[in-house]
Amino acid sequence: MSTPDTELAIETSGLVKTFGKTRALDGVDLAVPRGIVYGVLGPNGAGKTTAVRVLSTLLRADGGQARVFGHDVRRDPDAVRSRVSLTGQYASVDEDLTGTENLVLLGRLIGYGKPAARERSARLLEAFGLTEAADRQVKNYSGGMRRRIDIAASILNTPDLLFLDEPTTGLDPRSRNQVWEIVRVVVAQGTTVLLTTQYLEEADRLAGRIAVIDHGRVIAEGTPGELKSSVGAGSVHVRLRDAAQRPEAQRLLARVLDAPVEPEPEPVALTARLTGGGTGAGGQGGAEQASRALAELAAAGITVDDFSLGQPSLDEVFLTLTGRPAEQAAGDGDDGKEMAA
Ligand SMILES: Nc1ncnc2c1ncn2[C@@H]1O[C@H](COP(=O)(O)OP(=O)(O)OP(=O)(O)O)[C@@H](O)[C@H]1O
Ligand SMILES: [Mg+2]
Repeated sequence: MSTPDTELAIETSGLVKTFGKTRALDGVDLAVPRGIVYGVLGPNGAGKTTAVRVLSTLLRADGGQARVFGHDVRRDPDAVRSRVSLTGQYASVDEDLTGTENLVLLGRLIGYGKPAARERSARLLEAFGLTEAADRQVKNYSGGMRRRIDIAASILNTPDLLFLDEPTTGLDPRSRNQVWEIVRVVVAQGTTVLLTTQYLEEADRLAGRIAVIDHGRVIAEGTPGELKSSVGAGSVHVRLRDAAQRPEAQRLLARVLDAPVEPEPEPVALTARLTGGGTGAGGQGGAEQASRALAELAAAGITVDDFSLGQPSLDEVFLTLTGRPAEQAAGDGDDGKEMAA
């Protein structure tokens, strides 16, 4: 079971880390298969960064076990370090250097000859859409460019396991998409990625499996489909042309969607919370129900100006799994940093 080449990239049991009275990790069990993006989803203060720091050997756990590719993080940290990379920690870029200078320097540090370091650097900059910024100092990069050069630096040597700790928090939608594309490329090349995030949408798009953590514990685990079908299929938002049709639209939606439909403060808007119950695999059911509802609204002569199907938010996930919203999870015993992001 502990032979140094197991099937799993990461395996932990009963992992505990305390900071004073705070149990940042309170008995975490994880089994991360190789070759996928594994999402760790949780609100501020859930223990995501602590888990990443323990698994990448930067921090020592107080109890439990953790193995990375079969190597115990406590007994054999060097073997673990030789196979992992952590964005923004091991690979820290220098603000005063250009993109190219940073990558060539780091490439030399990990043993590439000069021509190989230059070639690798140029290829990564191109893959990450940074060719035009290659000769600009990193301190002049935008937030999204900065995040991309950080990831580029951390995969110079194609690690077996890459930790990405909230790589898209604070990025605009376009930059977020670019980071997602990079993560897909990295995984396609055989690297296992452990990605922490506060966005269910992000975990859903990228991850093969997701662990939801709260107060240092795994409270749900599974594929995105399993997770979504356990928390509901999301919600349907409708804006009507004519506010006078709202009561009729509300009755019709409630019947077709078999879900509670609530009027919004805006007199033309309605929101239906899909239960996902009985529709089988998550996601699919919601989209099907929503398009049927749209067709029936049209058939009833109700003009719809806007119609959207939203995925469950992290809040909805937490509300379902824990009975309380995510904000509260971060509220206690924290040092106030959680409002950043
Ligand atoms: N070095 C530390 N000293 C004291 N408390 C800490 C330390 N690091 C983390 N904590 C506490 O441990 C808990 C988990 O923190 P952690 O940073 O792992 O959460 P997180 O899920 O990464 O949150 P975020 O989404 O805000 O990054 C929090 O209550 C945090 O305040
Ligand atoms: Mg964190």
